[in-house]
Order: sequence, then C-alpha cells, then structure tokens
Amino acid sequence: MSAIQNTIRIDNQEIPFTPGQTIMDAALAAKVYIPHLCHYPGLPPSGNCRLCVVEIGNRSVAACTTPAAADQAICSNTPELNQARKALTQMLFVEGDHICPSCEKTGNCKLQAMAYYLGMLDDHFPQFYQRREIDASHPDILLDRKRCILCDLCVRASREVDGKNVFAIAGRGTQAHLIVNSPSGKLADSPLAKTDLATTICPVGAILIKQRGYQVPIGKRIYDQHTIRETTMQEHIPSCDKLKHKGHQDTER
Ligand code: SF4
Ligand code: FES
Repeated sequence: MSAIQNTIRIDNQEIPFTPGQTIMDAALAAKVYIPHLCHYPGLPPSGNCRLCVVEIGNRSVAACTTPAAADQAICSNTPELNQARKALTQMLFVEGDHICPSCEKTGNCKLQAMAYYLGMLDDHFPQFYQRREIDASHPDILLDRKRCILCDLCVRASREVDGKNVFAIAGRGTQAHLIVNSPSGKLADSPLAKTDLATTICPVGAILIKQRGYQVPIGKRIYDQHTIRETTMQEHIPSCDKLKHKGHQDTER
C-alpha cells in the first residue's frame, strides 16, 4: 500500500495515519481536536465517555476505539455532534457532585473545561444527588466518588503503567462506582502513591492530592488561560513507557 493511500479525511481535512492507529490517534498526531474525556495517549482506549463519537457515512463510531482506514470520510466538528457532546457533558454534571466553585480542581478540571468548550450554560437535566462514599483514609490522597465520572482512566493507569491494579469499576448503570482493590476497600490499605499516574490522571476532582489545596490560585490555572482544545493540542503525546515518569508532572496541572 502506498503512503498516499494511508489518509483519512476529518471534516474535509486530509490526515495521514499509520496502520494500527485509531481515528483519535491519527487526529491528535495531526493536531486535529476531537473532544474526549476518557482517552489518554499511550493508554488502551475504553470507549466509555462517548464524547469522541464521530460519523462515517450514516454510522456513529467512537474515534478512540475505531481503527483509521484508508479513505474514511469522517464528520466530527458539526453542530449536531457538538450538541450531542454537550448533552453528554450535562449528564455527567448531574450524575455527580460537580459544584465547581467549591472544588479544588476548578480551573484544572477537564469536565469543566469541556463544558466551557461546548458552550454549556446550564445542567439542563435534574440533579441525581447520588450518595457515594468519600475515602479520606490515605495520608496523601483523597478519593471523592461523588465527583467520579467513571472514565476508567485511573483503573487503566494503575494497571497498565503503575503495575498496581489499585482501582476497578463495579456495578452497572446508575449503580456503577469506583472501588479500591485492597483488603479493607480503603485507599490507606492500597499501594497507591501520590506520584502514581493513577493518582494524577483524574480529569476531575475525584482523586486529589492532600495538602496542596489552592497552591495555584484560581484564575491562573490551566483552563483559566487556555481552552481544552488548545491544551490538548499542546500536549506531548507520550508512549506508555514515558507515561511511567509522567505522573508527578501532571499534579502540577
Ligand atoms: Fe476517572 Fe477520576 Fe473516576 Fe478514576 S476517579 S474513574 S480517573 S473520574
Ligand atoms: Fe472515546 Fe471517551 S474518548 S469514548
């Protein structure tokens, strides 16, 4: 197959890909932004947030799990798809406790940044007010399940990069929740460390490092200054090996 055949088109822009890349991989490598929350370069995809859904003809597919194939004509940045992404973001907001002004992650939160990016002005749906347990047992790390969007990133990071398998998602539908694989089910009993990628990868304020609250003032945080699209396009795309050294850096962001 010649190199010229290894291209896809996203919103009429021609993009090269290498066999084995997903549509998301190819798009990010070409600096084309497809909104996403559960994708993280170098980790295997889980396909569960559905923010990255794009259209190929009359099929809707997740860009993070669908292999790029020659001559695919993909629509992503359309009013209809962005409206669907906004509705999904609104659902994530009402399923959890995302009271941004009272959350330490404000300004660094990808869910909040996604809401800004998609022009979300209200929750639209009624709040669930779910009761979910907070785990403050670890000396360095807080887990607030009420803010968890079940993106599975900490699960994959702990298993694939940290080699600890600290987290898992149990239950289904509205009963789905994050569990800790330790004898007591508490973080204090687990080998989780504050430098682990699993600790620092959380896109929202569900996993926070203690004693660091508000070190960076509100107004000077990542998404106070850049959109999630700009930030994603600036990010280095690391391999899994490099991810092993990336955990601590992410705590600064
Ligand atoms: Fe995702 Fe954070 Fe929940 Fe883990 S704790 S599943 S990283 S939102
Ligand atoms: Fe593709 Fe979440 S980024 S489903």
